[in-house]
Amino acid sequence: MHLTREEEAMLAGEQGHATQKAMQILVALGKIYDAERLVRVSSVQVSGVSYKNLGDAGLEFLSELARDGKARVRTTLNPAGMSLTDWEAQGIESGFAEKQLKVIDAYARLGAEITCTCTPYLAGNEPAFGQHIAWGESSAVVYANSVIGARTNREGGPSALAASLTGRTPLYGLHLPEKRVPTIGVNVEAHLRLPEDFSVMGYYVGRAAKDGIPYFRGIGRASLEDLKTLSAALASSGGVAMFHIDGMTPEAGMPHGNLEALTFGRRELSETDSMLSDEGEPDFISVGCPHCSLTELATLARLLGGRRVSREFWVCCSREVKRQGDEAGYSRVIEESGAKFALDTCMVVAPIEELGYKVVATNSAKACHYLRNAGLRVRFIPLEECVEEATKGG
Ligand code: F3S
Repeated sequence: MHLTREEEAMLAGEQGHATQKAMQILVALGKIYDAERLVRVSSVQVSGVSYKNLGDAGLEFLSELARDGKARVRTTLNPAGMSLTDWEAQGIESGFAEKQLKVIDAYARLGAEITCTCTPYLAGNEPAFGQHIAWGESSAVVYANSVIGARTNREGGPSALAASLTGRTPLYGLHLPEKRVPTIGVNVEAHLRLPEDFSVMGYYVGRAAKDGIPYFRGIGRASLEDLKTLSAALASSGGVAMFHIDGMTPEAGMPHGNLEALTFGRRELSETDSMLSDEGEPDFISVGCPHCSLTELATLARLLGGRRVSREFWVCCSREVKRQGDEAGYSRVIEESGAKFALDTCMVVAPIEELGYKVVATNSAKACHYLRNAGLRVRFIPLEECVEEATKGG
């Protein structure tokens, strides 16, 4: 792989130990994927933030890099395993909190912005069309590639961090226009009414597409919330990192050959929908996977106004969107109902299974997928029903 003089110097350790380590990671990755060279990135989104996923080995790796490493480009963080300010009220035990705060401290020393959100594009980190970025959060990767037209592979924790410390990433995969062509067609025959229908479709298509690039036909309109949840679901049941929607997404017009196509009709919608739920009465309800938009906060305020929740109800969103919700008056109504904002974290990366909850109701297929993997039972229901469930008997 060709390296510039400056990159050679980084690799030789002339710009510090952390930069050298980061460059070693990128060169190794570049060799595996046959990259000709590195490309500069304009922003990084790091996904390995929750201590639940990182463990002590991850914390040690970060602390070592933080000794002399510094982010060279804007770097934002994925959700942590708890609220950074209200973790006690969330029931998080102090041993976990201590480690989580050490992780955040290491990232702060590295120069990352402590955003802790999986929707950086709603919180001020919105790349432009065609820009190279290195993002790790899988739902945000799909959204950035598909809806914005920025270019990123699905970065792992170490490779995203390496991109941050060098400002570069190997030029391969979705950074190359020829790797962004669709590989599988999807004829959408089902009527997609709600964002949750998009979530179900993403879950169904992700399994079939694996790490391919779906090309959807027959979707007349889609909101930001529809595309946000579609992105998350595609990346959870499969390894999808990008999709196109005919007549809608910015690169859908690129030339491509004939595609083998699958159909997503009424039957696929209802079968996948029922497959996402288990038996049991929910004792924990959460929305905001991916983190809520301001529109979702407006809907929640409308639905929760004048009501009381009877069970633990988490509304996951970024501090920035919560701030916008404060200004618009939505946050007050939501909090008056007894629902709790889960800032900096979410129902999946927080250790909720250790807090004693057994059955989680949520409107996200992605959350259902990961919560099940963590040993919890799940109920997949639309946002409006999540509110009904949370306020039952309240
Ligand atoms: Fe975000 Fe957590 Fe879902 S990180 S995409 S809310 S699993």
